[in-house]
Amino acid sequence: MRIAFCCTDTPPEPWLQGLRAALPTVTVEIWQPGAAAADYAVVWAPPQRFLDEQPGLKAMFNIGAGVDALLRLRVPPQTAVVRLDDAGMSVQMAEYVCHAVIRHFREFDAYEADVAQGKWSYRKPRLRQNFPVGVMGLGVLGQRVAQALQGFEFPVCGWSRSPRTLHGVQCHAGPAQFDDFLAATRILVCLLPLTTETRDIMRYDTLSRLRPGSYVINVARGAHLVDEDLIALVDSGHLVGATLDVFRTEPLPAAHPFWKHPRITVTPHTSARTLREESIAQIAGKIKALQNGAPISSLAGVVDPKKGY
Ligand code: NAP
Ligand code: GLV
Repeated sequence: MRIAFCCTDTPPEPWLQGLRAALPTVTVEIWQPGAAAADYAVVWAPPQRFLDEQPGLKAMFNIGAGVDALLRLRVPPQTAVVRLDDAGMSVQMAEYVCHAVIRHFREFDAYEADVAQGKWSYRKPRLRQNFPVGVMGLGVLGQRVAQALQGFEFPVCGWSRSPRTLHGVQCHAGPAQFDDFLAATRILVCLLPLTTETRDIMRYDTLSRLRPGSYVINVARGAHLVDEDLIALVDSGHLVGATLDVFRTEPLPAAHPFWKHPRITVTPHTSARTLREESIAQIAGKIKALQNGAPISSLAGVVDPKKGY
């Protein structure tokens, strides 16, 4: 059995060593144009040529949770796409989002500014029941985030494609319940996959339907957000700010207004990083299961090409 490794922006050697150690009977090689046909592939943003030259792959394992970049390519129809299913990302995402929510709610940026000027000042405590958090996307990451926020006793509501029931979370589903979800939200967290349905979902008309004084946290994909609409709504005061981890162009171009906007916090796509050891263990476990006859549909993280995630 042969595995092709084709990951851009990823130092290959530790991955090759880890995959070879986890699957000692398997040949694992960096893909080169003209390479022999492989059975499986481990990929991140591969070139189209890779897919064109490897039409017989049984499955392609994406070393991230989001498959939007991969699905923009022509994927051979019989090749299953499998994304990372948590693999250590959900706890990181929960840390990041709770940090951003709490920083905003407790006004820690204002305290830091005061302290920088040598000021010992107090602000009136705010009531968390006035800061309901709305999580768009109640999948692997969204659910963990919703659960972590509940630990801090924030009211949490959620929105997904199909109806979900999560303890303590006011769940909404589908376009028919989107308005109710937005109206119930004061801190909006985006954890949707990027699909044709969710592209530009945070734009002027949708963000305007959040309560006045709302805050936006985007940790999914840059193309979920229309940048100039966010800036217009923050500058007008309808939104009070945003924490953004993902951008339409990454790295965020030097001249982009997000960098210097006083009410927008930027981080370099770091909210939930791929953890190599966990990811290799997960991928190797799935390859072993397939080799032992498990049907592909039994694996967690198999992408439905029709839904786009
Ligand atoms: P997931 O398990 O597939 O969950 C996706 C959720 O979004 C599901 O609840 C799904 O609804 C919902 N959804 C999809 N399309 C929708 C629509 N049209 N309307 C309403 N809800 C919709 O994905 P995940 O593992 O949680 O990851 C989510 C995304 O996070 C990834 O796709 C990736 O873009 C992003 N991400 C970012 C980072 C980072 O470092 N910034 C790291 C990892 C992942 P159903 O429940 O009905 O299916
Ligand atoms: C990171 O953004 C991922 O999709 O895993």
